[in-house]
Amino acid sequence: MSFLIGKDMTGGYGKGPDILHACSLEVDKGEIAVIVGPNGAGKSTAMKAVFGMLNVHSGSVTLDGEDITTLSPQARVIKGMGFVPQTHNIFTSMTVEENLEMGAFIRTDDIQDTMDQVYSLFPILKDKRHQHAGELSGGQRQQVAVGRALMTKPKLLMLDEPTAGVSPIVMDELFDRIIEVSRTGIPILMVEQNARQALEIADKGYVLVQGKNAYSGTGKELLADPEVRKSFLGG
Ligand SMILES: Nc1ncnc2c1ncn2[C@@H]1O[C@H](COP(=O)(O)OP(=O)(O)OP(=O)(O)O)[C@@H](O)[C@H]1O
Ligand SMILES: [Mg+2]
Repeated sequence: MSFLIGKDMTGGYGKGPDILHACSLEVDKGEIAVIVGPNGAGKSTAMKAVFGMLNVHSGSVTLDGEDITTLSPQARVIKGMGFVPQTHNIFTSMTVEENLEMGAFIRTDDIQDTMDQVYSLFPILKDKRHQHAGELSGGQRQQVAVGRALMTKPKLLMLDEPTAGVSPIVMDELFDRIIEVSRTGIPILMVEQNARQALEIADKGYVLVQGKNAYSGTGKELLADPEVRKSFLGG
């Protein structure tokens, strides 16, 4: 049984129509699972469903064997979910270090060790710790966002487009760091626009179309699937 299981999640925003239709995904310890698909497919919505920000009227979310379907996002953070949303994922008018401190808001123990770990994962953040996060480059901001999520010592890390708007070199760098986090045993569930590169590092891949699972398999399987290549990977 995987560490995180979203099963047949169906629901939408407020009283609006359903956006997700029996969407299922899972990720286990040591794995990276990647969600890809066209704009508006519901990738961010699927992440929000897992995180408890969506009105899911059928289906379930299970974390480490526990059904958490009815828990609030706050309660899910306490259970060990770390979530980096697609937008507004840092406090631009605060320093890098203040952002990391904010990330640790649920903790009552000493956070210095975790901060040191974040700085060793992202050394540039240590150099820039007293700068306002808003002054950083796109890739550095994403490092702050991931670092902020790591400050809760999550048992699961969810990243919505962590490489949005960065150069290919910075993207490779960020993927390397994400792999490093996954090797520490934290399962990673990630939405990616850079589908081909993301599937290359994915143990599990999901192609979402109109809120439904269109294809799933290992990253390798999806990269080799002619239909997936033609429709979603540019041939
Ligand atoms: N807060 C919201 N309220 C109502 N509808 C929303 C909301 N957020 C997204 N939607 C709708 O849900 C559908 C899926 O959007 P979503 O943002 O999940 O797609 P996505 O796959 O993440 O797209 P992108 O690649 O552009 O990030 C779209 O039709 C969108 O208009
Ligand atoms: Mg999105």
